[in-house]
Amino acid sequence: MLRLLLFLSAVTAAGAQEPLTGDTTIDISRMMFYGQRYSRLYVNMTGNFAICFNGYYGTMEGLDCIIGETQTGKNPEYFTGGFNSGVQGSLYKTLPTLTSAMQSYIEFYETPVSGIELTIYIFGTETAVKLYGTTMFQTMVNGANVDNLVGSTFPRYFDISGCRQSGVGYKTGDVISVDHDTCTDLVCDDTEVHTRPSSSCRLEHTCTVSGPAVIDSDGRVNSVQDRCAHSLMSLPSVPNFHVLANFQERRRKDVSFLDSVTLRLDGSDIHLQQGGRVQLNDTTLTLNSSVQEVHGVELSKDHTGVTAKVSLTDYNTSVFFDGNTAHIRVTRIGAIESLQGLCGNSSRPLSDVRLSQDSTSGCDVLHNDSADPAINCSAMTERCNLLNEAPFTACHNHTDPAPYITACTDTLCKYPAVDGLGCQFLEAYAKACSLYSNITLEDWRSKAGCSAPRASCQDRFCSAHEFCAEKASGEDGCFCRALFASPYRSTGTLGDPTVCERDSASLSLVGCLLEEKGIDYSTLHLNDNSCVGQVDEQTHMVTFSFDGSDSCGTVVSVNNSQVIYKNTIMTHNHTDVIVRHDQVSIDFSCFYTQPDVRTMSFRIKDSSVIEEITSGAWNYTLTMKAYLDSSRTRLVESSTEVMLNQKIWVELETDGLGDGLVAVVTDSCWATNQKSPNGGLRHDLISSGCANRADQTVEVTGNGQGTSNYFSFNMFQFTGSSADVYLHCRLNLCVTQNNTCAPTCSAAGSRRRRSARSTYVAEAPAFITMAWTN
Ligand SMILES: *[C@@H]1O[C@H](CO)[C@@H](O)[C@H](O)[C@H]1NC(C)=O
Ligand SMILES: *[C@@H]1O[C@H](CO)[C@@H](O)[C@H](O)[C@H]1NC(C)=O
Ligand SMILES: *[C@@H]1O[C@H](CO)[C@@H](O)[C@H](O)[C@H]1NC(C)=O
Ligand SMILES: *[C@@H]1O[C@H](CO)[C@@H](O)[C@H](O)[C@H]1NC(C)=O
Ligand SMILES: *[C@@H]1O[C@H](CO)[C@@H](O)[C@H](O)[C@H]1NC(C)=O
Ligand SMILES: *[C@@H]1O[C@H](CO)[C@@H](O)[C@H](O)[C@H]1NC(C)=O
Ligand SMILES: *[C@@H]1O[C@H](CO)[C@@H](O)[C@H](O)[C@H]1NC(C)=O
Ligand SMILES: *[C@@H]1O[C@H](CO)[C@@H](O)[C@H](O)[C@H]1NC(C)=O
Ligand SMILES: *[C@@H]1O[C@H](CO)[C@@H](O)[C@H](O)[C@H]1NC(C)=O
Ligand SMILES: *[C@@H]1O[C@H](CO)[C@@H](O)[C@H](O)[C@H]1NC(C)=O
Ligand SMILES: *[C@@H]1O[C@H](CO)[C@@H](O)[C@H](O)[C@H]1NC(C)=O
Ligand SMILES: *[C@@H]1O[C@H](CO)[C@@H](O)[C@H](O)[C@H]1NC(C)=O
Repeated sequence: MLRLLLFLSAVTAAGAQEPLTGDTTIDISRMMFYGQRYSRLYVNMTGNFAICFNGYYGTMEGLDCIIGETQTGKNPEYFTGGFNSGVQGSLYKTLPTLTSAMQSYIEFYETPVSGIELTIYIFGTETAVKLYGTTMFQTMVNGANVDNLVGSTFPRYFDISGCRQSGVGYKTGDVISVDHDTCTDLVCDDTEVHTRPSSSCRLEHTCTVSGPAVIDSDGRVNSVQDRCAHSLMSLPSVPNFHVLANFQERRRKDVSFLDSVTLRLDGSDIHLQQGGRVQLNDTTLTLNSSVQEVHGVELSKDHTGVTAKVSLTDYNTSVFFDGNTAHIRVTRIGAIESLQGLCGNSSRPLSDVRLSQDSTSGCDVLHNDSADPAINCSAMTERCNLLNEAPFTACHNHTDPAPYITACTDTLCKYPAVDGLGCQFLEAYAKACSLYSNITLEDWRSKAGCSAPRASCQDRFCSAHEFCAEKASGEDGCFCRALFASPYRSTGTLGDPTVCERDSASLSLVGCLLEEKGIDYSTLHLNDNSCVGQVDEQTHMVTFSFDGSDSCGTVVSVNNSQVIYKNTIMTHNHTDVIVRHDQVSIDFSCFYTQPDVRTMSFRIKDSSVIEEITSGAWNYTLTMKAYLDSSRTRLVESSTEVMLNQKIWVELETDGLGDGLVAVVTDSCWATNQKSPNGGLRHDLISSGCANRADQTVEVTGNGQGTSNYFSFNMFQFTGSSADVYLHCRLNLCVTQNNTCAPTCSAAGSRRRRSARSTYVAEAPAFITMAWTN
């Protein structure tokens, strides 16, 4: 009923109804049909319901038409009409793309009115169609379908103004093509073809850095050989943002690996490091799977790695780092400017992207290492070529495997496939594919023999001279970098030389060398198993030490002229039946060399003589001082006048030998009148640790009982000689353990009354005084 009313109202406003029998041409006002103006219709409603603009349907190829099927096929008719503001208003509402004023319309229909009704509304440069009836019409340009007009029991409206480009029709609003170079769309915009910034073209640059290889968006592979920081990407229009990659060597000196990635934003650095560690400047951040915004960077962390996202005015950048491989993506809706850095223009020499501040560190020095004979390059090539096969083929259309294969082969032919490297490039490809094309590869790991992804090295933080990798036991460990370990490996040691200090000795073992040998430092101790190593949390050095007061079972022995302090680092003596690590036994020792003949030019003008004795690995000082009293409080100074036959106390004191382990024994002291201990006239004061029986003034105290002793004698002068008196003493170090160091002196050597017998003659005191001030 509604339809009939509409029909009648249309009839009243319109011209006469015309029957459509056979072929009919109708002239109309100029109308737009997909970008082409027509003013004549060729209508044949016998069989097909065909309205064409440049010839009868079916008579030739490539016509522009609106065709559909007749429904009743009976009594087709049409009529035309002019402007109707009500119709114009409702068309504006349903088809917002219409902007011109309605001029006329032409309506085709079958009778009775239950048949099809199709009306063309001419709006200047725009044209609309109303379709009534459950049928479908299609519009064709050059014989090719452009649009399907699906009718219904309610009227439906379509804009057929459109455009055409190279003979192809497009609907208003259609994107005709996308220029990916300029990231612009060619769109059909109300009968005209325009370019506009693309809404679909999301320009992106992706870049994958794995091991030494940098794979940029264009599939170029660059290999970093030094151990410097390099610029990965920066954008000229965003000078406050920069992504850097830091490279370090691992087991070989001649192959570098990506070690960490730095996002530099407004002068602050966010470092993504191995083990999932993230630092803002020098502060370590605590991250989890919830996104946390830190200094304008969105950070999150899961069991596979760390993701950092930065949104800048026109760009979004995301960096994913799993400790071995970094995937960087820069996106922008619309054209992207050229990227700088390794990810952008890798045709630039590497030295251009190296950060200059590093050149002083020597990071750019390249090292050689002997080739690894265990590497089978053809086997590695085969392995890398797995990327050419299923299931990786699912990604090929999106991500070219060739650069990954190149990077994989180049690396694995130089560097052994250890520490998971045999899977690293396959993993990098699969991850790039899933990140950038949203394709998740089927189980490639079982095919390639790679273990399931796991939290590799998560929360295992190694120091700067170490890198993290899986140990043979399956746990993660810190291994030594080649350059750091090189001096140890070349000498076959696990640590630094023993440091023998004044009264202590220590030996530091390198944590990562122990780790490589499968030695757990916590099982190590000294002879005394309560003396264990101290670990430095920063350097992972394990230090064992002992000193005089805490001897840790140190064994002291004497070998000819040396006193040797020896201890051993050993593995805990387990009562277990089995152990899973090597038994360790590292001896370390410090030794004093027995002092040689010491020439103490005891001249009275020097109130004390101090000798720094560096013998063997030990340093100690030996001081010789002369006093005027037995309690040794009145030092003989250069101004002190000592009379002939005045009693002098000479103290021999050491410092730096520690307590209790050794004693100082004054073996002999004698005087000469010349500097040389052997030259000129000689007078013995002490021989074999005992006072010279021939000089009754001599008295020895405390010899061999500690680290100092003293003796006394009465001042003399050499007969008929110059004023100089040189006093020489020879000292021994004596191990106190199980020894009696105090010399046993015969009664004859003990003090007796001074005899009148004298081999030297007292002279005028003035003469002696002179000598002392000499
Ligand atoms: C009109 O359509 C009828 C039926 O399909 C056909 O026989 C006739 O030839 C057509 N006329 C022209 C001019 O194509
Ligand atoms: C990081 O260090 C830089 C340079 O020292 C400084 O300018 C910046 O403010 C620091 N950022 C933060 C978040 O502390
Ligand atoms: C992640 O860390 C934030 C801040 O430390 C905390 O508020 C949040 O609950 C954590 N989320 C999860 C899933 O642990
Ligand atoms: C950048 O990220 C924001 C937030 O995720 C998103 O709304 C925007 O569309 C992205 N822009 C580009 C160019 O990808
Ligand atoms: C890349 O760098 C080379 C050498 O510096 C330069 O000649 C070339 O123009 C650069 N290309 C782009 C796209 O910036
Ligand atoms: C490494 O060895 C190659 C060939 O043996 C030699 O040409 C090169 O100069 C060496 N490089 C260094 C840094 O020693
Ligand atoms: C290297 O690997 C290939 C392929 O796996 C194998 O055929 C060849 O025997 C291997 N060569 C050596 C020396 O192991
Ligand atoms: C890759 O593209 C080719 C040609 O376009 C197509 O035949 C093939 O099915 C595509 N492969 C995949 C895995 O999508
Ligand atoms: C990726 O694929 C998953 C599942 O197939 C879908 O839920 C997700 O929306 C896709 N993401 C994008 C960015 O296409
Ligand atoms: C370890 O124990 C065994 C047997 O108990 C013993 O023979 C050996 O001397 C011990 N070694 C050390 C260094 O104590
Ligand atoms: C002994 O001490 C001197 C001065 O302190 C120092 O130069 C020297 O290296 C030390 N020798 C040893 C073996 O420690
Ligand atoms: C010291 O003497 C004790 C008891 O005679 C003996 O057990 C120990 O082995 C000796 N030590 C040395 C270093 O000779």
